[in-house]
Amino acid sequence: MAAKYAMIMSEIKEQVANGTLGPGSKLPSVRMLSDRFSCSKNTVMQAYSELEREHLIYAVPKSGYYVVNEYRSPHDEHANKKVDFLSAGPDQKAMPCIEFQHCINQAIDLYKEELFNYSDRQGFYSLRLQLIKYLQNLQVFTDPERLFIVSGAQQALHMLVSMPFPNGKRNILMEQPTYFGFIEAALLQKATAFGIELTTEGLDLDLLAYMFRNNDIKFFYTVPRFHNPLGHSYTNEAKKRIVQLAQKYDVYIVEDDYLGDLDPNPKHAPMFSYDPSGRVIYIKSFSKVMLPGLRLATAVLPKLMLHTFLRYKFSADFNSSALSQGALDIYLKSGMFQGHVKRIRKVYQRKMKLLQEACDLHLPSGTFISRPSSGFYLTVFLPEHVKAGRMVDLLLREHVHADDAVRMFLPEYRRENMLRLSISQVNEEQIGSGVEQIARCIAFLQGKRDLFHSRPSSLL
Ligand SMILES: Cc1ncc(COP(=O)(O)O)c(C=O)c1O
Repeated sequence: MAAKYAMIMSEIKEQVANGTLGPGSKLPSVRMLSDRFSCSKNTVMQAYSELEREHLIYAVPKSGYYVVNEYRSPHDEHANKKVDFLSAGPDQKAMPCIEFQHCINQAIDLYKEELFNYSDRQGFYSLRLQLIKYLQNLQVFTDPERLFIVSGAQQALHMLVSMPFPNGKRNILMEQPTYFGFIEAALLQKATAFGIELTTEGLDLDLLAYMFRNNDIKFFYTVPRFHNPLGHSYTNEAKKRIVQLAQKYDVYIVEDDYLGDLDPNPKHAPMFSYDPSGRVIYIKSFSKVMLPGLRLATAVLPKLMLHTFLRYKFSADFNSSALSQGALDIYLKSGMFQGHVKRIRKVYQRKMKLLQEACDLHLPSGTFISRPSSGFYLTVFLPEHVKAGRMVDLLLREHVHADDAVRMFLPEYRRENMLRLSISQVNEEQIGSGVEQIARCIAFLQGKRDLFHSRPSSLL
């Protein structure tokens, strides 16, 4: 008969594999298992230590043992091979899942009333107070009356597209490329949308002034830090100029600061800080620094728009999830959030540095990259004639997942040579080999093109 510790290990592995013990689940206590298997506590400890060595579980001092968040069975060859430059959710290994689980449990107790009723459409007042303090760290100073809790930044963006604005204007201007979810919101709601090219150097401010002056722009949508997909961040000077132009031509700015917390430079100011009166609508998602599944973000609006925004919010979903709001409120109050942000800032900065080093080492001449100091995204500008769509297909065959940036443009502005790489969920150890594969695919597609000129039929 197998040794007792091996039996314990095999039972736990089976439960993890069949999902009975999901990622982050707490394992039975040592005493419970020693009773059940009629063995000593040392035998259980031996099994747990072995499972820890195999990276299947981990210990939390004074709490117990937990299943790791991203366990991959050694037999799951496909999963082990996958190089994920595609996922846009936060790094699962960097998330405070256990702490947050406690906050959710507490929220069920503390916010029973709100769970059984529809709650404040603008968001829990106590959470709004917490958010006021939290936003101060990002140089956004406002009051709870102007702050809304929304069901993800996407909800605020969706509503703003169709909402009337105090300037009475009708059209939308956005950077090109930009966040795909915003393009979808504009296209599906049939808004008249204009684009302005954003490069790694920034915007042409004269062109911006021209667009503001001549195109009846109600708001300019911008992602000023760690842009999606470019990774570009504006200088403070550029942000100030953009706000001045918006004031001059009576245009609103919708500032999507989705990754603001990751900025390693505390001197970088949001556009909001250059006009806190309301010219800039500030939106901050909790999907990247916390969990996309919470569906929570905050939006700061000008006084003139509060009433209309509240009506739109009510018509969209009454109020954002009470459970998510309660848990985030408890998490912010506990003070754990700031520690978490400090930790993840380092994680993403390191991964972004590794990615750029690998690109410098492996990518062929004629290929350029953007150079963000942190954030999730970097764009590879492929050599002429190499299409990102083809690259994505080829890379998939090598188990490297990346994104074609073509959908991150309005139809009339499309570029086909931009590949978006996300570092959020890729394993650090795979960054180098993933970029090598990208380099190989570029070389293949360039070689194939030469071949195509000489012997077209062989390729068909
Ligand atoms: C720039 C940008 N804004 C907003 C969002 C959506 O945020 P949320 O999950 O809060 O709706 C994303 C998601 O990837 C994004 O990249």
